[in-house]
Amino acid sequence: METVLSGIRSTGNLHLGNYFGAVQNFLKMQEQNNCYFFIADYHSLTTYPTPDDLHRSVRTVLAEYLATGLDPEKATIYVQSDVPEIPELYLLLNMNAYIGELERTTSFKDKIRTQPNNVNAGLLTYPVLMAADILIHKADKVPVGKDQEQNLEMARKFAKRFNHMYKVDYFPEPQPYNFGKDLVKVPGLDGTGKMGKTAGNGIYLADDEKTIRKKVMRAKTDSGPTEKNQEMTLPVKNLIALMELVSAPDTIQFFKDKYAACEIRYGDMKKQLADDIVKFTAPIREKILEIEGNSKFLQEVAEAGAEKARKNTKQTLKEVREIIGFRKF
Ligand code: TRP
Repeated sequence: METVLSGIRSTGNLHLGNYFGAVQNFLKMQEQNNCYFFIADYHSLTTYPTPDDLHRSVRTVLAEYLATGLDPEKATIYVQSDVPEIPELYLLLNMNAYIGELERTTSFKDKIRTQPNNVNAGLLTYPVLMAADILIHKADKVPVGKDQEQNLEMARKFAKRFNHMYKVDYFPEPQPYNFGKDLVKVPGLDGTGKMGKTAGNGIYLADDEKTIRKKVMRAKTDSGPTEKNQEMTLPVKNLIALMELVSAPDTIQFFKDKYAACEIRYGDMKKQLADDIVKFTAPIREKILEIEGNSKFLQEVAEAGAEKARKNTKQTLKEVREIIGFRKF
């Protein structure tokens, strides 16, 4: 069975785009592979969260993934900072990571541009920490979005470099996990591209009913079709695409027909969409709130996950230390 590892950013709540995208794939992955899911809280320190914010966001992310179906019985779910072997491997890998190659990564160059007053060493070595996350489990596959491809390539580079340097065939080179055609694209509410955190066009699983209604009613549309059977504009197509995820087929057909007949009333359509989203997310939201409020459960999951993860990570680190030459007298 392949070992698949997925790092989850500890900032940001799940929106519908994440839910129908990453989350559904994670649920499939955990059935078929030896999966590790962890919350990357060390990585988030590069932007200086307050202690309360740091804790709250880890708690929320863990609660949301558990509420949507990540299963501690099927996968190993843990928090990065609960596994001390990761920072130790990070230290060791740092010795073979070159300033030049780290400076050339696009994510680092982006950070220099967007936060020029906080170009810390953690940002520079972000890919090394990520490589440590992956290599500590000798993961075969890592699901990554476009923005993380280069970091995964760096992990391969560090793995190869280590093997070469010590003349061992120790670390496998982690490959991207390909979701293939399964990747659902969920559009946002602003009439442009996909739902995303930065775009601020998203509906979150934790949004309450009022918030969802407000967001949907404000979604971008157009001034309406002027000819029968006219092709839909992008903002309207996007609303239909959202309906495809949460509404009944005859409801969708009803609004498509109305559009084709030039009789569409966007207000009605949005109200329907809002109803259906609320119906869909309400039970998930309830579950999130329930889990988020259950410290005992969260603690149990995190402790058991860390313990399971550390079976692996301790073994890897022991072997790595031996390979490097840290030996007993
Ligand atoms: N950098 C990833 C992101 O921003 C999160 C992450 C940290 C990660 N460590 C990882 C992803 C290891 C995959 C493997 O999304």
